Amino acid sequence: MIVLKCYLSLPLVAGALLVGLPYSISLVAQWLYGWPSKPGYQKYLEAVKPRRIYCLTRAVLEMLKYLQYGKLYFQWKLWYSNDKNNKHYVKGITFGRRGNKLDLYYSPSTSHSDAAPVPVVVFVYGGAWGSGDRSIYCLLALQMAKELNASVICPDYSIFPKGNVLNMIQDISDSLLWVREKGHAFNLDQDNIILIGHSAGAHLCSITTLFLVNNVEELVIETNKQRDLVSAIKGIIGLSGVYSIMDHYKHEKMRAVEYVSTMHKAMDGVENFDYYSPTSLLKKLNKDQLKRVPPVGLLHGTNDIIVPVESSVMFSELLTSLSVSMSLYLIPKMNHTEMVTDLMAPDRHFYHSVYGCIKQEYSKFQG
Ligand SMILES: *[C@@H]1O[C@H](CO)[C@@H](O)[C@H](O)[C@H]1NC(C)=O
Ligand SMILES: *[C@@H]1O[C@H](CO)[C@@H](O)[C@H](O)[C@H]1NC(C)=O
Repeated sequence: MIVLKCYLSLPLVAGALLVGLPYSISLVAQWLYGWPSKPGYQKYLEAVKPRRIYCLTRAVLEMLKYLQYGKLYFQWKLWYSNDKNNKHYVKGITFGRRGNKLDLYYSPSTSHSDAAPVPVVVFVYGGAWGSGDRSIYCLLALQMAKELNASVICPDYSIFPKGNVLNMIQDISDSLLWVREKGHAFNLDQDNIILIGHSAGAHLCSITTLFLVNNVEELVIETNKQRDLVSAIKGIIGLSGVYSIMDHYKHEKMRAVEYVSTMHKAMDGVENFDYYSPTSLLKKLNKDQLKRVPPVGLLHGTNDIIVPVESSVMFSELLTSLSVSMSLYLIPKMNHTEMVTDLMAPDRHFYHSVYGCIKQEYSKFQG
């Protein structure tokens, strides 16, 4: 009798798991992060479409892969909270109009009181405009300072829902203003700033620079200060970046994550996608403005499924067609996460190849 029961219930259990689990996973994800933007009950019809359920379940299961970075997580947690490391950095400096904080990392080969001011790298982390924190990148900033023999600052910015993309662009501009106005106290070279950003951070680095070049009023920064900022930026390095919001939205749609993603919310809706796309703004600049756009280096892994490699390829083609100095590095077999995790410790797989490309660009920017 018991045996018979088992036989009967096995297919039932298997069926319930195969159907029930994906539905539960993706409905919880949509309940937490956002239902499809359709009127009334239609949003729920859209939410339970089999393709959406399948894709969302896959996307959630992909997230389990992040568990393998557990060791790295404890490494940076321990390093950041250990006060003995304070000779390498100054933590928690308040900057800008919204009271965000930044950390400053010194290169071990420069003493803080050196006569010559040291070049500054501003590292802008990613996280889909809605997550991220400067402490996560302490090991990366430390290694970057060492590899480039530069000071590295890592600013927080008003991620969604604290702020929208315009607020984030203002925050990144404020971090540059901080270098120019307060940097001398930390022996920073206020005329030698390099922007390096990953993913959404690469988007923010490029759109901020282009807003400054275009003298956008919404930055609420005086025109002459905007000009000075642009001439202080010696180059931009984009790691696995998003440069066209509309193209990225199409990619999100293909993965069925467009409604759970923070992107469209952070951009204040589809109607602003163009306005906040570096690709669109570049096409609107006049000749004089284009000449003031600093040189750009783009790096992208060919195994990236979060932001496809086409994003950097298309941006590089546009830059070239507008005669902006540009280099593109495609790194075989590397994915979206490895672009930053592998910059955190010298024993990681892509550490030397990615720093190799970054150094090459960096020394070009230093002329
Ligand atoms: C690092 O930079 C400092 C000042 O910018 C310079 O004095 C020093 O020689 C550099 N060290 C190396 C190893 O390049
Ligand atoms: C990135 O690629 C590595 C190596 O193939 C793999 O172990 C890891 O799971 C991937 N990471 C993500 C988040 O997909």
